[in-house]
Amino acid sequence: MLSRTVSDLTAHGVTSETLPAHTHRVPDALVSAIGDLTHMPRSDSGYCVLKGILSDFTDSPGPTPLSWETADLEQTRDLDVAFALIAGTAGRVFGWKSQQRGRLVHNIVPSKASQNLQVGASSAVKLEWHTEDSYHPDRPELLLLACVRNPDEVGTDVASIRRADLSDEDIALLTTKPVLLYPDDSYAGSWSYDGHGAPQMTTLWETEDGLFMRFDPPYTKLPDDQPELRAAWERLGEALDRCATTVVAEPGDVVIVNNDIAAHARRPFKARYDGTDRWLKRILARGTYQRPETERYEAGYAQVQVGPYPSLLAGR
Ligand SMILES: [Fe+2]
Repeated sequence: MLSRTVSDLTAHGVTSETLPAHTHRVPDALVSAIGDLTHMPRSDSGYCVLKGILSDFTDSPGPTPLSWETADLEQTRDLDVAFALIAGTAGRVFGWKSQQRGRLVHNIVPSKASQNLQVGASSAVKLEWHTEDSYHPDRPELLLLACVRNPDEVGTDVASIRRADLSDEDIALLTTKPVLLYPDDSYAGSWSYDGHGAPQMTTLWETEDGLFMRFDPPYTKLPDDQPELRAAWERLGEALDRCATTVVAEPGDVVIVNNDIAAHARRPFKARYDGTDRWLKRILARGTYQRPETERYEAGYAQVQVGPYPSLLAGR
């Protein structure tokens, strides 16, 4: 039913970017069936894999583009619509005006200029543990990654704070002593940082459901005068290493990460820049979870969202 619906949508000129205005064309039965699969990964693992759910759409995606800017959106139009439909059922999809021109579906491909940076377009370096867009109070609850191709079987590591063997003392420090997070290099040019700013973001918080996390070491400033906090924060990274799972996505797979529970990372790999490199699509979505009250007062570095759009489940 997914293929038929996508064909119908694209025949009406719908793209992944305009789908939010055309959700009435998506049958209730399809939304309900996808909704059964895409419920928020609330288990302690913090992620789930929808194996091959998009495999009807990944037969001929064309060559891997050399950067997100040069992606041929027409070539993967059906795939993007199908992925947006799945993500739009899982949550309220959105983009960032300053990231990939505000698009809802991002192309994650290795780019030569970014090969050594801590961004999704890197390849030569390990992309360190991070929760997506940690710097912002309205960061995604759900990170969805769709695999277009992954011929070198590059793994995505996922690690849940609820499986990390941290001591009570470290949890106490990380839930009470704030740090300063700031936007990553994919937002370059859209904000500036003068090296100052009050630490105000706690790395962990706990509710009756368990521990939650926001963590992005390459883009964090720790207070200089709190070595015990730095030590606990470094032990968190080591604990994530110990409890990590590696997901090797194949074409058509969708990985859904609960971005409040699990951090993700990527192994280094050798990019060829010849049209055959690893290629992922990424969609960000918000849900209904209420983060701590203190986050409401964060300015989010003036970053502006496109959306979020209502979930396809809304009103059905
Ligand atoms: Fe990421």
